[in-house]
Amino acid sequence: MPLIPIEDNFTDVIAKAQRGYAISDAELASRAEITAEALAAVKGGEANLPVLRRLARHLQLSPDALEILAKKTAYPRAPVFPRGFAFFNTRHEDMTVNNYLVWDNKTREAAVVDTGADAAELLEVVDTHRLRVKHVLLTHAHEDHVAALPQILAATRADVWLHEREPADAVPGARRFADNDYFHLGVIAIKCLPTWGHSPGQTTFYVQGLSWPLALCGDSLFSASVGGSPTHFREQVKNTRARIFSLPKDTVIGPGHGPLTTLAHERKYNPFFAPDRLAPVEEKKSAASDETPAAAEKRPARAAGKPAGPRPGKPAGPLGFHGRRKR
Ligand SMILES: [Fe+2]
Repeated sequence: MPLIPIEDNFTDVIAKAQRGYAISDAELASRAEITAEALAAVKGGEANLPVLRRLARHLQLSPDALEILAKKTAYPRAPVFPRGFAFFNTRHEDMTVNNYLVWDNKTREAAVVDTGADAAELLEVVDTHRLRVKHVLLTHAHEDHVAALPQILAATRADVWLHEREPADAVPGARRFADNDYFHLGVIAIKCLPTWGHSPGQTTFYVQGLSWPLALCGDSLFSASVGGSPTHFREQVKNTRARIFSLPKDTVIGPGHGPLTTLAHERKYNPFFAPDRLAPVEEKKSAASDETPAAAEKRPARAAGKPAGPRPGKPAGPLGFHGRRKR
């Protein structure tokens, strides 16, 4: 497989953070003590490093990691799994999307994690290894992650599973799992970690029993970025930090878009999680959260990390529900 490009560039990361934390252009330029023109130039793609570093400090991003992303000097390397794991990258409209197959080598029981846009290659691997696909596990119900479901169901007898907080009509016939539920394939255990925010039930499937611990995290985390969220971005970042960045250091990360990576790489190079990022105040009070989206909605707006109300000059922005290029 050719090298998969890093999903987001520095302008995507700035746009996601700015939208997620609801900071207008005027406010951001003022806080960072830069001109409106300098901000517009950076957002237009000019890698002005001193300006980037100033912006990072006011967007809760790591200046070092954002600079490295702009300079394109880091690319993740994940170890090869000798058995029990396959990774697929298929084209969906103007982007590519990832999906995965994990299996127990002895029992040949397998689970598909997300479907991608075309399952032909995945079904070949199933045939080659004589696997029995027990489950299709969906990180969330966005269209690019479930597009090839009919193709997989036509070829297997798998059950389809979706988190109970995902929309009721999202995937007809899907069974529902809850936070921290487990699935088992022979000696392999798969735990459902709640990393919601990008969608109400976004889940990371944490796989133990292969050569390395493995976190298949949908759009909760990308190499050097995260999935967008117009409504629960702070929760998304907080849940990802609490649930994924507490996993073992050698965990391999399988994101919904972009290349495979490792937790060690993201600790250093992800602008949202690298150590020189300024920690938001509310996270000092509670690092982890068992809070559900419904509970977060009930908190006062400020405590939930949302602006208290509409702000003058709040960026309307060109971003759709998923962020740039729909995710
Ligand atoms: Fe998504």
